[in-house]
Amino acid sequence: MKIITVVGARPQFIKAAAVSRAIHRYNDANRRILHEIILHTGQHYDKKMSDVFFEQLDIPEPEYNLGIVEKNHGAMTGKMLEQLEAVLLEERPDMLLVYGDTNSTLAGALAAAKLHIPVAHVEAGLRSYNRKMPEEINRVMTDHLSAPLFCPTQTAVRNLNKEGISQHIYNVGDVMYDVALNYRAKASEKYDLGQWSLEEHGYVLCTVHRAENSDHKTRLQSIFSALNEIVIGIPVVLPLHPRTRKMLGVYELEYLLEPLHIIEPVSYLEMIRLEMSAKAIITDSGGIQKEAYFHKVPCLTLRDETEWVETVEQGCNKICGANAAVICEKWKEICQDTDLFRFENKGDVLPYGNGAAADLIVDVIAGNGY
Ligand code: UD1
Ligand code: UDP
Repeated sequence: MKIITVVGARPQFIKAAAVSRAIHRYNDANRRILHEIILHTGQHYDKKMSDVFFEQLDIPEPEYNLGIVEKNHGAMTGKMLEQLEAVLLEERPDMLLVYGDTNSTLAGALAAAKLHIPVAHVEAGLRSYNRKMPEEINRVMTDHLSAPLFCPTQTAVRNLNKEGISQHIYNVGDVMYDVALNYRAKASEKYDLGQWSLEEHGYVLCTVHRAENSDHKTRLQSIFSALNEIVIGIPVVLPLHPRTRKMLGVYELEYLLEPLHIIEPVSYLEMIRLEMSAKAIITDSGGIQKEAYFHKVPCLTLRDETEWVETVEQGCNKICGANAAVICEKWKEICQDTDLFRFENKGDVLPYGNGAAADLIVDVIAGNGY
């Protein structure tokens, strides 16, 4: 069975690492050989946003790199669509595998669906119900083009049901949980906080990159003003996404970076090392909200809503939007609450699976059990 995996952006490399490894395990254990071809659209291209993940997470080298670097959504998605179609016509895979909700996800799903190639969507069913987010458009479109649909949570299954999708849905858990469990010990062994001059629980880890924040001066200014308040009491370390760096320059807000501990984007192992020992995480990232939860670190989310509602319902993730006063208030709240993860003692079931999502995905794909 020939499978083409389409990736393009940082979180997709991490998710694909889990499934690629599970494909190898499946091939080792079974006579049936799954032949995976990795295709990189080129959406993320800096070494620190791309190559480093392939090297560190042992992801097989992409057989195709489309090298598509475009600023606007239409041009980016359109070029990907055209070039993906050419590859699919040449390779004629039995299935296309896509992850998450980026422009690369949508382009892959659309190109394959038009050629009647089954599309498997990993991280299906997530919704923010905010159509202003490019990711929301990508998710909705991709889910309606895909089968099988691999959901990370029961909420995601319900979201699909609400849109009339009821078949070929598998709640397998979250592949990012698989990866987090797999690498946490290695991250602790390999990296020492001293390399960033930080101490255990003595800093806040922050990331900002969402278009809704980076591309709006008032929101960006407000977020960084709040960080400038928080840093008076505790170091704030921030691996800066190239998009945010660029927009801070465009808006002449770079001075707001000065009090913060700004570093280049880091590798996955460095990131989970930084996450595990942080006093709190402040982020607008989807993946990092969940990693905070996996590593039991309180999180403040710099968005007006989240797809990862379970973390909020359980009280360890607080939605702050981009309002400086709210961010500072919620920061004080989490500093005062020493037992944010108390829900665990109530015996609640963890909502993101048991760390074997990737194997379940591969079993379904290999068995064509959909
Ligand atoms: C994309 C995804 C977003 C995901 C994020 C993960 C879409 C619509 N957005 O957002 O869902 O959360 O990836 O990080 O697909 N840039 C570089 N070097 C790089 C990559 C980007 O300099 O290696 C800069 C470029 O100026 C580029 C800008 O960042 O124009 C935005 O990159 P893009 O991939 O369009 O969007 P992200 O914000 O990274
Ligand atoms: N990440 C990383 N280095 C960084 C920032 C993030 O390895 O400098 C990882 C992070 O641990 C998570 C994933 O990238 O696994 C999240 O990607 P991102 O925040 O870019 O996108 P999102 O999840 O919001 O789509």
